[in-house]
Amino acid sequence: MTRTALITGISGQDGAYLARLLLDKSYRVVGLAPRRGSDMFWRLRTLGVADDVRIEYADLNDAASVQRIVAREQPQEFYNLAAQSFVGTSWEQPVHTGLIGGIGVTHCLEAIRQTSPHTRFYQASTSEMFGKIQAPKQSETTPFYPRSPYGVAKLYGHWITINYRESFGLHASSGILFNHESPLRGVEFVTRKISLAAARIKLGLQDKLFLGNLDARRDWGFAGDYVDAMWRMLQQEAPDDYVVATGVAHSVRDFCEAAFSHLGLDYQRYVEVDPQFLRPAEVDVLLGDPAKAQARLGWSPQTNLKTLVTMMVDADLQRLQSPAAA
Ligand code: NAP
Ligand code: GDD
Repeated sequence: MTRTALITGISGQDGAYLARLLLDKSYRVVGLAPRRGSDMFWRLRTLGVADDVRIEYADLNDAASVQRIVAREQPQEFYNLAAQSFVGTSWEQPVHTGLIGGIGVTHCLEAIRQTSPHTRFYQASTSEMFGKIQAPKQSETTPFYPRSPYGVAKLYGHWITINYRESFGLHASSGILFNHESPLRGVEFVTRKISLAAARIKLGLQDKLFLGNLDARRDWGFAGDYVDAMWRMLQQEAPDDYVVATGVAHSVRDFCEAAFSHLGLDYQRYVEVDPQFLRPAEVDVLLGDPAKAQARLGWSPQTNLKTLVTMMVDADLQRLQSPAAA
């Protein structure tokens, strides 16, 4: 029997990699997307899967639209990846961020509870919930202390997932994923901002790169590895929560050094700090402990920082040199 998987946030970075992974496993993939402009699905196209996914227009803030699709599709698996996911914007649009990241999750869970209770649910939780970290290495048992409206919203989404699991017996799991990047990352996130700028500077298209806090440290992995952990969670007999991380942290400065030196450039000549990119409350460091995911899911990261940086910088260089291929 063909399994159907429903993915919200299909037009985003993780949505594209997850769609490809599930299609490779012979799933029928239905993607939920809010109708926006005309070029929403460039990531699916880049991975060569745009024509293999069925798109349904739905907004997480429109409960009826989600419910209609869940009731009709009766999917085996539902991956909720939709969010206003840029932390910086969450201070400018805190209510919008909260509606999608918090209440929107409840809309998904209600749709499943009321119309398709056998559906297994994955919630895209985040290391941003650890915020002002309460332990040097964060695991599933580390207390949360979010530092942004985005992190606060995601904490609601995380706990409502656990609540529906405990209240209604849904197979609902939450993946606490640390930062994961790729050539398909949005250009507002620091890694892609750096890879793109380094490539542009190399080609003489840009002189400087302005960033905020160069000392922030993140546990960066590759998105292609992380969507595999999502899938593995939903194959478990019992639902649970898992940290997904590499267990290694680097600074923004380290990322700059790696990206520019890959192109034979010294980042110190080009990178400057602009206070407009500092945040009202910063998450100084995140470092995950993926031991549970390794032991229970058999998952481990396959891509180190150097490989990730190389992949991102090379992709940006190639896109700039042959824009039609982007
Ligand atoms: P992304 O590229 O920003 O994708 C988010 C997706 O959500 C986009 O397709 C977006 O569509 C969609 N969306 C936004 N508002 C929506 C709404 N009201 N209704 C339906 N869809 C909506 O994020 P990502 O990096 O792939 O991350 C996927 C998920 O994992 C997010 O929930 C994120 O918060 C979470 N997460 C990400 C990371 C990471 O490092 N990447 C780490 C931990 C957790 P538009 O682009 O059209 O708005
Ligand atoms: N975006 C950005 N732009 N960040 C900068 C800049 C800049 O110019 N300069 C320094 N930074 C620092 C930020 O202050 C932050 O400490 C770090 O770089 C990473 O920023 P982002 O790449 O924007 O990611 P994030 O960690 O805030 O959030 C991402 O990871 C979360 C998981 O921990 C997003 O993908 C979230 O959706 C995700 O939940």
